[in-house]
Amino acid sequence: MRYLLIFCSLLIANCKEKDSRFEKLSTFNPGQDWLDNRGKHINAHGGGILLHDNTYFWYGEHKIEGKIGNTAQVGVHLYTSTDLYNWRDEGIVLQVDETNSNSDISKGCILERPKVLFNDKTNKFVMWFHLEPKNQNYSSALTGVAISNSPRGPFRFIKSLRPNKGVWPLNVKKFHKKKVPKITKKIYCGGPECMPHHVDSLNILGRDFEIGQMSRDMTLFKDDDGKAYQLYSSEENSTLHISQLSDDYLSHSGTYKRFFQYRFMEAPTIIKKNGKYFIIASGCTGWNPNAARSASADNIFGPWTELGNPCIGENANTTFNSQGTFILKVKNTENYIFMADRWKPSNPIEGKYIWLPLNISDNNSIELEWQEKWDLSIFN
Ligand code: DGJ
Repeated sequence: MRYLLIFCSLLIANCKEKDSRFEKLSTFNPGQDWLDNRGKHINAHGGGILLHDNTYFWYGEHKIEGKIGNTAQVGVHLYTSTDLYNWRDEGIVLQVDETNSNSDISKGCILERPKVLFNDKTNKFVMWFHLEPKNQNYSSALTGVAISNSPRGPFRFIKSLRPNKGVWPLNVKKFHKKKVPKITKKIYCGGPECMPHHVDSLNILGRDFEIGQMSRDMTLFKDDDGKAYQLYSSEENSTLHISQLSDDYLSHSGTYKRFFQYRFMEAPTIIKKNGKYFIIASGCTGWNPNAARSASADNIFGPWTELGNPCIGENANTTFNSQGTFILKVKNTENYIFMADRWKPSNPIEGKYIWLPLNISDNNSIELEWQEKWDLSIFN
């Protein structure tokens, strides 16, 4: 027993020493390398953060060197922190399948924008992500679900699916239910230029009714009452769906609504402040940055009112050369941080993080301003 205690204290001392080899961080430096406890640039792209038991858990896409890094070669990487500046590498919590090439999450699939919620009823941690099985490029538009007993994983992949198969949204229109015209032309090329501005005639919602709705860029949101929602770019990216999850968060409940038709919103992020919901999303231009959009609503199922680009100042029209991924609520405060990715598709592992304070005023205007370097005292 004595030897075991000595061994453990040596181990702890060793870990502490490893951590203290690097200077503790006390600022955010958007766009710069962000070193973890081992001195390596954090590798958690398209990520999201769960606050659980006073610890922040940052889950994101693990990227590797070279263009191949735009596909999932490893899995979902986790980092933890208690102060938001200093992050400990906790390793890979959802691994791609290296042995079974028929698995939906086989090595080389596209696995993007993982987000995790804690379910108070089942005591499970539930992860959702955008999934494109290997060699299908972005054509499948699936979402994937994984589960764990611990926020530190490992997460077990459960299923992939197209949301709301055979279910109409709350705001379905009569024409959606009419016989769908055969669509012969390939529509998707990543943006509005490929579709007539008013695409009702294509009725993509009706087209996909029986197989489930497309789901690409996504996020999760847990409301104060414990109900959870998935927001995802659907209908060939033209329209955002907000879809309530089942009580165990493992499926869609069948209650959903479509918003911002033909606005091609990607990278959805959402928060609720003083009872009001806010969305910040991007436009749809592949890996290239574009101007963000914002919207607010008194009810998650709308009506949503667009508020325009929240970014101000230089490079506002490219979201400061980045694309959003999550809005983080700082613990025990009403302060929010907008998290974004500065993608580097030629060498994705070098992608940088843009974290900026989100300013929501009492009259509900929402603003993001570039900071070269900042810390949490900005909120005081
Ligand atoms: C933009 C999305 O937001 C990213 O997550 C990724 O899917 C790229 N498009 C791929 O071009």
